[in-house]
Amino acid sequence: MTRPIGIFDSGVGGTSIWKEVAKMLPYENTIYLADSANAPYGEKSKEEILHLSIKNTELLLNKGCKIVIVACNTATTNAIDYLRSHYDIPFIGIEPAIKPAAFHTKTKKVGVLATKGTLSSSLFHNTSKLFAEGITVLEQEGKGLVELIEAGKIQSEETKKLLSDFLEPMLEQQMDCLVLGCTHYPYLMPVLKDILPKGITIIDSGEAVARQTKAVLERNGLLSDGNGKPEHIFYTNATVEVLKNLIDCPSAQVSNLDF
Ligand code: DGL
Repeated sequence: MTRPIGIFDSGVGGTSIWKEVAKMLPYENTIYLADSANAPYGEKSKEEILHLSIKNTELLLNKGCKIVIVACNTATTNAIDYLRSHYDIPFIGIEPAIKPAAFHTKTKKVGVLATKGTLSSSLFHNTSKLFAEGITVLEQEGKGLVELIEAGKIQSEETKKLLSDFLEPMLEQQMDCLVLGCTHYPYLMPVLKDILPKGITIIDSGEAVARQTKAVLERNGLLSDGNGKPEHIFYTNATVEVLKNLIDCPSAQVSNLDF
């Protein structure tokens, strides 16, 4: 069997990345860990996020993964340097897409919706400094959104109200690009489209992560040989229902695991 691609997130959000990866790399086996019992990571200390990221990585390595995608902005911005320097496999991370947003904006005002853990990280600040020169980056913590998505309440009134409250001040300040800086947030797209006026560009990094994964596998001679139907295995340490609904892939194997 071809060694799988390992993917982890604090919960179900990273499946938005898994979808892009499965689309771009249709012959690859994947193993996904949803650490929902410990979500949200965004409210935890850097040390706790690092500890959880190590735990997830070691489980994926024990399952034979050839590469690990840290499908979580919070874990990437707080732990990827450590992971890269301690484990002998390639890691792919995800960060808020400041660079394309800075390129795209006409008003020079870019909104970033992300967790507290991401917005307070030095990696996020360094990226903003590097790519957003002359641009005002309007930072907004999405406190409470991850919990609502984990509970399957995407279309609820509570979610709509919370999102409107977060977006209103950024709109008042003339934001014309909104960066989704958390892998859970692409699932809010239908609600975002209802709230945001036309002409606001929404940017997320899912496709770029899949492209980067393909390039790194190619460079390291790790691409699958393309034989057979891929196997997609999902483990969660919480209930399987929300995860199953979001991935919407009948052939995927979804089960509980205590990790
Ligand atoms: N999906 C995670 C991210 O991209 C959510 C973090 C959290 O659990 O707070 O940041």
